[in-house]
Amino acid sequence: MDYKSYIAEKINIEGFTLDQIKNMLSVPPNREMGDYALPCFAFAKALRKSPAIIAQDLAAVIPSDGVIESVSALSGYLNFKVSRKGVAGGVLSEIYEKGASYGSSDEGAGKVICIDYSSINIAKPFHIGHLLTTVLGGALYRTFNFLGYKAVGINHLGDWGTQFGKLISAYKRWGDKEAIENGRVRELMKIYVKFHEEAEKDPSLEDEARGYFKKIEEGDAECLALFNWFRDLTLIDVEKIYKMLNVKFDSYAGESFYNDKMQPVIDALEEKGLLTESEGAKVVNLEDYNMPPCLILKADGATLYATRDLAAAFYRKNHYDFYKCLYVVAYQQNLHFKQLFKVLELMDAPFAGDMEHVAYGMVSLPGGAMSTRKGNVVFLEDVIATCIEKSLALIEEKNAALENKEEVARMVGTAAVIFGALSASKIKDIVFDINKVTNFDGETGPYVQYTAARCNSVLDKAGAYEPTFTAEVTDAEYEVCDVLSKFPEIVRSSAEKREPFFITRYAVDLAQAYNKFYFECKILDAEPAVRAFRLTLTQATKTVLTTALGLLGIEVPAKM
Ligand code: ARG
Repeated sequence: MDYKSYIAEKINIEGFTLDQIKNMLSVPPNREMGDYALPCFAFAKALRKSPAIIAQDLAAVIPSDGVIESVSALSGYLNFKVSRKGVAGGVLSEIYEKGASYGSSDEGAGKVICIDYSSINIAKPFHIGHLLTTVLGGALYRTFNFLGYKAVGINHLGDWGTQFGKLISAYKRWGDKEAIENGRVRELMKIYVKFHEEAEKDPSLEDEARGYFKKIEEGDAECLALFNWFRDLTLIDVEKIYKMLNVKFDSYAGESFYNDKMQPVIDALEEKGLLTESEGAKVVNLEDYNMPPCLILKADGATLYATRDLAAAFYRKNHYDFYKCLYVVAYQQNLHFKQLFKVLELMDAPFAGDMEHVAYGMVSLPGGAMSTRKGNVVFLEDVIATCIEKSLALIEEKNAALENKEEVARMVGTAAVIFGALSASKIKDIVFDINKVTNFDGETGPYVQYTAARCNSVLDKAGAYEPTFTAEVTDAEYEVCDVLSKFPEIVRSSAEKREPFFITRYAVDLAQAYNKFYFECKILDAEPAVRAFRLTLTQATKTVLTTALGLLGIEVPAKM
């Protein structure tokens, strides 16, 4: 039930549209006053009356009905109380009917959304910095699908560039095949770091590396085989992480995939007269738009990151015919995407306006900065493992008798990581504190899981009951129903604003409302009709918490 629309329809004021009135409706800070309030100040001019009088006049003519219980005027505000019985009955029966699909819709039917996310770099560690793009993209992917869109997850692998020449040079000098097979990225990192140390003393190593990279480009069998080997080894490591975080991709077409797809784009740029020469390189001049030039070809003819992204944009449009193409990439690349989208616009690509950079902030550990070249990085795999260990310790402490503790700890530890990363607006820089995100009593993933498991255990103890949707509703019960009723709107705005954080915040709100109810109201010992209503409420809460966590990629253990 959309209460704001319902209320807005009752109010007719010349010069104000239904939507405007709807947007003016707010939720009063104090529930005593009402469930919705309409400030009447903006109407004073049109009606030539004081806001206080306007509110009084409106209150006198709006009748109460099964939805609106009462209307009152207070200092220029029109306050509405909705029928609590009506709210509770409406939302609980809807959740009962729809189950896991409550909150979903088909509004995106027929529309494809490409989501470029995670997009890790080959032979480089999957570190804490990649966490956000991976879980943000994963959450958006699931949320768009939930709303009926067809999401296409694309991992635009960073699998091209001179660093592969360096790796080949390093491998040939100091590599141990078996150690690398076993250690994968960690071993590759070691020789990569060694390469940089040695190259400081002997700069000719850089030339050697450039030579090897050229050989990869020319398709030299040995170099290409090594390059593919590095790629495969990296993917073994990252896929383990994707499995833990419950993310998946429909395509792993990365930078190297576009090796043979850039010429048409370069030709088109040339034809449109967009390419200019600058010190031998070819660039698109963006001075008119207050941006540095976008580099398309280096003096030696080599292509660049932007060239590959241009080719990728056209490829994606042709291949998927997207409605929107999102890039979930850190704000450090703001300029790159502004340039990219501008160049597409200058090329008259009809889809230029459908490209969107979903920028996010930095994630760091309390320790501080890191660098791949120097080797002081913290692997995400280790961060997840630590969260799982911590969760296991907490479970031992709180519920030592729990069955399959290891499995539960895995679910709880990964929930801590995902939920922790998504606990603030995406654009904020965050410090990822393992102690905070794993705290069962904080505003964390484990706390929400714990609440869902609590619902489960209540329902388990209760056994069979008759689903019951109406009752006299206490404040605590009403609060839960009110939060439950907001879920569809939260899902929609989380997709629209590309903000999975709305869902984490919502899940905490719902868990808190339920826990307050749980401590204030007896459930199992209440008289039969009330007991049945409270169990129905508990079931609805479990359903919605499970769906909300599911959208984030988090599983709910039956017991905790
Ligand atoms: N591999 C890049 C990086 O780690 C991110 C790629 C983002 N996607 C894109 N199409 N440019 O910085």
